Amino acid sequence: MPISFDSKSMQFQLDTDHTSYVMKAEDGYLLHLYYGARLNAGDHSYFHRETGRAAFSPRMENCEGLTLDDTPLEYPCWGRGDLRSPALEIVNADGSDIVDLNYVNHTVFDGKPMPDGLPATYCEEGDRVQTLAVTLADAVSGVKVTLYYTVFADYDVITRRAEITAGSSGCRIMKAASACVDMPSDEIEIISNHGTHCRERQTERFPLPHGEYRISSRRGASGHVHNPYMLLVSPDADETSGECLAAVLVYSGNFSAEVCGTQFDTTRMVIGINPDGFSWQCAPGETFSTPEAVLTYSDTGLETVSHRLHRLFTHRLCRGKYRDCRRPVLLNSWEACYFGFDSDRLVKIGECSAELGIELMVIDDGWFGRRNSDNCSLGDWTVNRDKLPGGLEGVYAPLKKKGIGLGIWFEPEMVSPDSDLYRAHPDWCLHIDGRPRSEGRHQLILDLSNPDVTDYIYDSLSAVLETGMISYVKWDFNRNMTEVGSDTNPGKSQGEITHRYYLGLYSLLERLTSSFPDVLFESCSGGGGRFDAGLLYYMPQVWTSDNSDAIERLEIQYGTSLVYPLSSMSAHVSASPNHQTGHVTPFMTRFTAAFTGSFGYELDPTALSEEDRERVRATVALYKKYGGIFADGSYYRLGGPRGKDYAAWCTVSEDGKVCIVGYVLTKVRMNRSVRRIKLRGLVPDARYRDTLSGEEYTGSELMGFGVYAPETLEYSSHMWIFERI
Ligand code: DGJ
Repeated sequence: MPISFDSKSMQFQLDTDHTSYVMKAEDGYLLHLYYGARLNAGDHSYFHRETGRAAFSPRMENCEGLTLDDTPLEYPCWGRGDLRSPALEIVNADGSDIVDLNYVNHTVFDGKPMPDGLPATYCEEGDRVQTLAVTLADAVSGVKVTLYYTVFADYDVITRRAEITAGSSGCRIMKAASACVDMPSDEIEIISNHGTHCRERQTERFPLPHGEYRISSRRGASGHVHNPYMLLVSPDADETSGECLAAVLVYSGNFSAEVCGTQFDTTRMVIGINPDGFSWQCAPGETFSTPEAVLTYSDTGLETVSHRLHRLFTHRLCRGKYRDCRRPVLLNSWEACYFGFDSDRLVKIGECSAELGIELMVIDDGWFGRRNSDNCSLGDWTVNRDKLPGGLEGVYAPLKKKGIGLGIWFEPEMVSPDSDLYRAHPDWCLHIDGRPRSEGRHQLILDLSNPDVTDYIYDSLSAVLETGMISYVKWDFNRNMTEVGSDTNPGKSQGEITHRYYLGLYSLLERLTSSFPDVLFESCSGGGGRFDAGLLYYMPQVWTSDNSDAIERLEIQYGTSLVYPLSSMSAHVSASPNHQTGHVTPFMTRFTAAFTGSFGYELDPTALSEEDRERVRATVALYKKYGGIFADGSYYRLGGPRGKDYAAWCTVSEDGKVCIVGYVLTKVRMNRSVRRIKLRGLVPDARYRDTLSGEEYTGSELMGFGVYAPETLEYSSHMWIFERI
């Protein structure tokens, strides 16, 4: 069984196929003993060593020698002897802010209870999944905390979350993390992502400092700037060796992931909702649920961590019809025509796309209200008849004849001040009376904590989707939150309103995705401004970045791939010169970069040369043949782009029969040694044929010696497709 408890030693052992997580109730506290490679069963009590040192920190009066400040804890609290960053901070009814959690009891059961109203990983029949719920309580205030640990044995993942229940006088929660992991050493490096709009998920790696390092968002969205995950690795860790611990938050709002190098040279990692500006009033007996954190550990490098998360997120976080199948090849109208289209132009683009084999045309922004620029009409989700006189039907019907589907863009969470919706309901947006309403991209954010608002959005989107013409929705979100006040929740903290907003968004998405199960939803926030595990639960793919430049995408997709599966990354071939950077890149390089994700085009096919149109036709056919492997294959980062003059990667299909290798030369250096790309994930003794050249190799040759990268010009690329013979 994945979870065992020994009542004599009071030890819990959580085992996955390759990892173990051990904790123990001692002196009333729930101690963290271990998270690492799989252990045998047994009493591991000696892992916890009381050092006896105090260094000015108080000792607990009832437990001889115990210094909480030097004790690894599962859910540390503010106000007693642990003076490191806590997982839980509470203000009690009497104004004191102490909470001291002691072990009360626990239960173990098969399967996984889902948190109320929040996205989370799930299990299916036949999965080896068990959950441990440990209850801790504070004897003085009566505050109760239940910690949930779900063990996905086959996936080598443990998920955690907490439920905090107020005692008989109620309390105010100031911080409630989803998970905390105390580690016995500080020989650790941090890997995280930073970025901005059009430059998301740049990867950074540096040694753990003493003090506290934190990535976070206060933007009312997980954001472009950081991503809600953290990787802690041993200094020697690389793709295939060394220790790595990953923590990913399944949440789309304000988050915080902190890591502290302590005075005793140990490490604490805490991840959860951002406590900045957050407070949550719990009436007596009321419960607050944190989002879920997903943890995995590997001693075989970053690749293993990525593979585990990719597998879990693909099969046990994403849901619905498109969960584990190849996504349709689509053409998005944004970079093809921006706001400048009418029915005729769309039909021409759609018909031309259909001839090239493209399966879906998406009408991006500009089809509704009076929208000809970004300064009006968000909220008025009715067709602009000046542009589309025949309505959506006028575009859908001719495309249907050609066998190509129709997708559409919405930005449902927003309202333009110049809109009928705003004129009718000026107080449906987030605002604080007496203060200016700051606009971002000329728009305000609707108050999704108000059920009237979510009902309105549900009804207006449903009216379009019920026509049955739409098979794909791009769900955009183009600004961050300010003046976070809500008429529905007067006097509440900014953090509470933001969290209630997300509860509203999640329940709206649940309703919509279950009412329209055949529609593929793609999330977007100016590209990757909300690329997080929370939204993947509802929408299995994300527009990775508004930067569609193939060269820039290499770095963005590299950072994204550390945690998120390839099929979640929407990647399109755009025009050259690129609209964001001006880079001129060969068609095949743009294709090679986009081919690793959920694939499509972001250009006007009617404006292409006959030669390029032929290339589109050929590459669409290639994606139809092989694209399925991005849904369930294994991805290997083979080299670059960070600090290198190239990027190389490969994906091996789940059945091991196909391996697709991508290579892009990002900078030419004359007369350097001839580069070899060594593949991974193949069977050494098996034989593979290069489908292009017909050459045959053994797996051991391809992995041991590699293939020669062609000597080419800057920004050129090569793709190999190997089939097992
Ligand atoms: C931002 C998105 O990221 C773009 O792809 C496009 O949909 C625009 N919004 C439309 O306004």
